[in-house]
Amino acid sequence: MKNRILVTGGAGYIGSHTAVELQNAGYEVIIIDDLSNSTADSIDGIERITGKRPIFEKLDCNDFVALEALFQKYEGISGIIHFAASKAVGESVQKPLLYYRNNLNSLINLLDLMPKYKVSGIVFSSSCTVYGEPDQNPIDETAPIKPAMSPYGNTKQINEEIIADFIKSGADIKSIILRYFNPIGAHPSAEIGELPNGVPQNLVPFITQTAIGVRQELSVFGNDYNTPDGSCVRDFINVVDLAKAHVIAIDRMLGNKSDDKVEIFNLGTGNGLSVLQLINVFEKVSGEKLNYKIVGRRGGDIEKIWADPVKANTVLGWTAKETVEDTVLSAWKWQLKLREKGIM
Ligand code: NAD
Ligand code: WQD
Repeated sequence: MKNRILVTGGAGYIGSHTAVELQNAGYEVIIIDDLSNSTADSIDGIERITGKRPIFEKLDCNDFVALEALFQKYEGISGIIHFAASKAVGESVQKPLLYYRNNLNSLINLLDLMPKYKVSGIVFSSSCTVYGEPDQNPIDETAPIKPAMSPYGNTKQINEEIIADFIKSGADIKSIILRYFNPIGAHPSAEIGELPNGVPQNLVPFITQTAIGVRQELSVFGNDYNTPDGSCVRDFINVVDLAKAHVIAIDRMLGNKSDDKVEIFNLGTGNGLSVLQLINVFEKVSGEKLNYKIVGRRGGDIEKIWADPVKANTVLGWTAKETVEDTVLSAWKWQLKLREKGIM
């Protein structure tokens, strides 16, 4: 048996896919999640895929006492992957304190406990949102951090700084900060996937929910951008590919494969795809005609951004492998499974 890894927010979208890959790699996974944006169904899904049920405790990372009790109950946790956070950009503008409290306190509590319980490293879920509107694409990790466009985005910037400052202060831990571009898709088994609460804010769940009839019509926010077809361009990254990068990051940290105590990596494909191109891919792979219309721009949207993933490719030895066709198809299969189960 390999090391014990604590996965915060592991009942959620990216965390559940990562738990699968960690278990497949032989790690023992302990998931904590307060289920504020997920259900324990994903724990069943992880078990069905891997044949092994991860340890699961319903726990709020803001609760320092409960968190400390967890480290006492499960001795020898050697690494943490910290996914737990509130992540809705629009909601963060309406409820900034909720976002600052949840996203900052959770990390602070974990960092505080790490040295005492001899946890050697933490992988942190950051976002390409820290780059704002890039001066050039593809964008690499040396690009400047721009003023955040939302409290959510600001929490990611501040979290990165908190980690760096804590390590600078002499804390004997390591960290790998992963800046995700736009994660999409689901596990090919359709046992786990993305299940947003209420009306989806992100493009792919809105597409699949429209195609299945839960939503009437998709609004495409703007076709007058300075891009080849006028719609925004993003770097859509397959969630299983993304999950695999976390296993590599954990191997690297726990195996002391780098002298750097903090490392930052972009996780993207390196290809930009427009919103209209993605819709096209969806129609092709699903055989469904999507009901959509072009509407005005959404406030705060970035025109175009895609990753330069060369550092992750060369240093981590990680590359996004799945095609966008297979990825979009996996999202559609997940939607069909949700319908089959009567969930949506
Ligand atoms: P998600 O909402 O599906 O997963 C997050 C999980 O954390 C949820 O299950 C939620 O219930 C849990 N959680 C929230 N606050 C908690 C707390 N205080 N204690 C315990 N559990 C808590 O989101 P996701 O898409 O899987 O995102 C995971 C991480 O990746 C987040 O930090 C997010 O900000 C980051 N990220 C996501 C994207 C994206 O597009 N999905 C992009 C970049 C970065
Ligand atoms: C993608 C494109 C929309 C919905 C957000 C966060 C970012 C990161 C990922 C966490 C945009 C367009 C969308 C719709 C549309 N999350 N769109 N109609 O905005 O790139 O990034 O999620 O860190 O921080 O800001 O992702 O999926 O919301 O949008 O036309 O109904 O799809 O305008 O161009 P985004 P998204």
